[in-house]
Parts: sequence; C-alpha cells; structure tokens
Amino acid sequence: MLGQEAPRIVTPPPGPRSRELALQLDRVEYPANAARRALRESTAGVSQLPITYASAAGSNVLDVDGNRYVDLTAGFGALLLGHNHPAPAAAMQEQGALLWHALGDVYASDTKIQLLSALAALAPFPEARVILGQSGSDAVSAALKTARLTTGKPAVVAFSGGYHGLSYGPLAVCGYRESFRAPFVEQLNPHVRFVPFPGEQGAVPAALDALRGALAPGDVGAVLVEPVQGRGGCIPAPEGFLQGVGALAREASALVVADEVWTALGRSGAMFASVQQGLVPDLLCLGKGLGGGLPLSACVGSAAAMEGWARGRGDVVHTATFSGSPLACATALALLREVRRSGLDARAASMGKFWIQNIHTNLAGVPGYVEARGVGMMVGIELSSGGLAFEVGRGLLADGYLTLGGGRDYEALTLTPALTIEAGLLEGFTRALRRRLEGAAR
Ligand SMILES: Cc1ncc(COP(=O)(O)O)c(C=O)c1O
Repeated sequence: MLGQEAPRIVTPPPGPRSRELALQLDRVEYPANAARRALRESTAGVSQLPITYASAAGSNVLDVDGNRYVDLTAGFGALLLGHNHPAPAAAMQEQGALLWHALGDVYASDTKIQLLSALAALAPFPEARVILGQSGSDAVSAALKTARLTTGKPAVVAFSGGYHGLSYGPLAVCGYRESFRAPFVEQLNPHVRFVPFPGEQGAVPAALDALRGALAPGDVGAVLVEPVQGRGGCIPAPEGFLQGVGALAREASALVVADEVWTALGRSGAMFASVQQGLVPDLLCLGKGLGGGLPLSACVGSAAAMEGWARGRGDVVHTATFSGSPLACATALALLREVRRSGLDARAASMGKFWIQNIHTNLAGVPGYVEARGVGMMVGIELSSGGLAFEVGRGLLADGYLTLGGGRDYEALTLTPALTIEAGLLEGFTRALRRRLEGAAR
C-alpha cells in the first residue's frame, strides 16, 4: 500500500548524492551538526554522515539516491498522519486559494477563529482560551508568561530530564542535558528549580517530597511537567505521580502546565496524556502534530489561568507576525478532524501495546537490550549505552529504518512513527533491531 511499504535499499546509505549534499550542507549551515557528528563518530566508531530526504508518503521516505525507508520518527513525532496525508494536503490547497496570511492579533482570519473554537471545545476545562504560536517553544514560553501574569509569582519548578524547547524561555527550564543550558545560563531566568522526575513507581514519594520542598518558599507560579518525557527517552510518569503534582501545585497556588507538545492529539494513545493519567492541568502546551505538518503550536488554558492577560495593560504584550497563520490553522483543523474520524488515539493506544510486547518478546535476553517502554506511538527502547545506540541506529538506517536517539546519554532509540503506520512495518523493524543487536555483540 502506498506509504506503507517495506524498506528498499538500492545504494548503501548515504549514497553518493546524499554524501555530496551533506558536504554542501556542512559548508553553509551553522557548524553545530558537523561538530555533533564528529563526536558521535568517535563514540560509535561508525560514520554518521546523513542521508538527504527527497520525497515521502505515509510512513515511507525516499532519499535523493532512491532508497526507500520506513520512517519511525515522523519528523520528531510531528506527522501524526504520516507524510503528505491527503486531508491536510486538501485543506492547504483550499486555504491556499483563499488566504495565506492575515493580520495576527489585529484582524484574524475566519480559519483561525474556527481553530481556536475547536481547541477550546477539545480542552479539558470550560471556557478555554488559546494563544497560538509556531513552535513548541512558543507554546511553552506563552505558558510561562501566562503563569507569571496570572499568579504574579516569578519562580518555575521543572523536572530533571524534561525538555521543552530551546528558545530562551524554555531553555531556562530544560532539565534534559546541562550542555544545552550551560553556554547561555547567565542570560536565562534565574528563578527555576529542578526536581527529580520519577522513572519508576518506587521513586514517586521522593519526587513528590522534592516538589513539596521546591514549592515551600511560596514564590512558584508554574509547575511544568511532561506527562511522558519524550526527548528524555519516552519515560511515562508513573501512576499517581501527575495527580500528586496537581495536588501540591494547587496547595501552593501555582499553575500546572502540562507540556503535551509531544504527547497530545493521539500520540500517547489519548487526546491528552495528562488528562488520561488523572491530571487536569491549568495550561496545556500543544505543538508538533497540531499543524498537520505545518508549524503551529498552542497554549490552551482555563479562563481562570488566562485571566492575567486581561488585567488592564492596554497592550497586546505577546504576539508575532505569523501568529494564527491561516494555512496552518486550516491544516490543523483537518488534522483534528482526521484524528477523530479515524479514531487514531485509540489505534495508537492498542498498536503501542502490541509493539512494546512484540519488541520485548523478540529482544528479551539479547545482549545490549535493556527495556522497551512508552505509551501509544511513543516508544523508547533503552540499550546498554549511547555508543551502542548510535551504532545500532546507523545499522538500522542501512536496513532502511529511520530512528532517533534519545535519553539523557542517548542510550535509547526514540520511536514516534505516524499513528497510521501498519503493524507489519513495526514487526519488520523489531526483527531488524534484533539482527543489529546480535551483530553488534559479535
Ligand atoms: C515536550 C516538548 N516540549 C516542547 C518542545 C519544543 O518544541 P519545538 O522544537 O517545536 O520548539 C519539544 C520538542 O521536542 C518537546 O518534546
């Protein structure tokens, strides 16, 4: 079926055209990628030269050398419907014939108003209000500003291992790797406290105690949490943890911000992972999949949480030129309709269970395999080291599977395919991973 085909490698990747373009890219892009590649090559002992994408459909990507891959990344989890899905494609075409760009906070498009209404109707609180942005970082920045305005309190509690984007607001609350914050630390919000995120049930009481301590001074306006730590390696919050976070934050009159940029809209097997786990947050951050493939994000809040924006300043102190882009609003509406129409949240939930079981059955006892975890189409496979994960990830590329490294030491493969992916492709991946792990052990 188109977009659901097995890998077909015609030239070992990266093929000659990809190599040529990768070197051209090195000459014109900021040098961070080349530096990272050099480090990874020294850790893994294998080339990390990238392929170059040429086209895609569904769960397949074609590179410029004609190789066909199964995409288990879906553009960092952003393509919930897979590549080039007909529903957002039709919406883009229809909207493109009418209006590409309106006037942000001055004159909205009708499409933007429809999207805000759809998001407000979807939100887990009555009379929801929405702030749109273009990236997940924008949504988190908007949430942090909202909490500051509404509570009047400057401090933020965030969790170790948490990732919320890299613009200055979210970078200050990045608990993922210190190397992201360190070069900029003097320019970041100093009112941030990090507490541990429990990776397992037994660690919940200590984590909640640490949160209680961080809230004690009374200056915290926001507690920011990912219901499943995505970049941290697909680590779901253990049962009861998010409810505990909600209760402690409310006692301290702080707003709870659920960063659902990665988890929401079906990805985690539910429309909102936090709500599924028993937490109704004050603010929800959405991004990645929201735009159906175009850049769009939203901070959605209860009327009470958003109230700070109304307090008589007379200026719209938070907006942007492309805020509410009609094209992205149209593809987002198509995405929301399609997730609902096809029941993709429920599909992701059952497919995720099947896949984790399939991985575990095939890999238990294989040297280098530690565990598979996650919810919905958000699966982390922990290996015994970052070096092994780079080597195996590279082998999987040669087999025609696109994967991403995650976890704090890049020890996990982070897999977030389209919610529409067929089971046979996931099983094919599991077999390929087993072969690669067995090969690495030799
Ligand atoms: C949970 C979470 N929040 C926020 C972000 C930032 O999103 P963006 O990269 O679109 O700024 C990410 C990105 O991976 C994320 O995983």
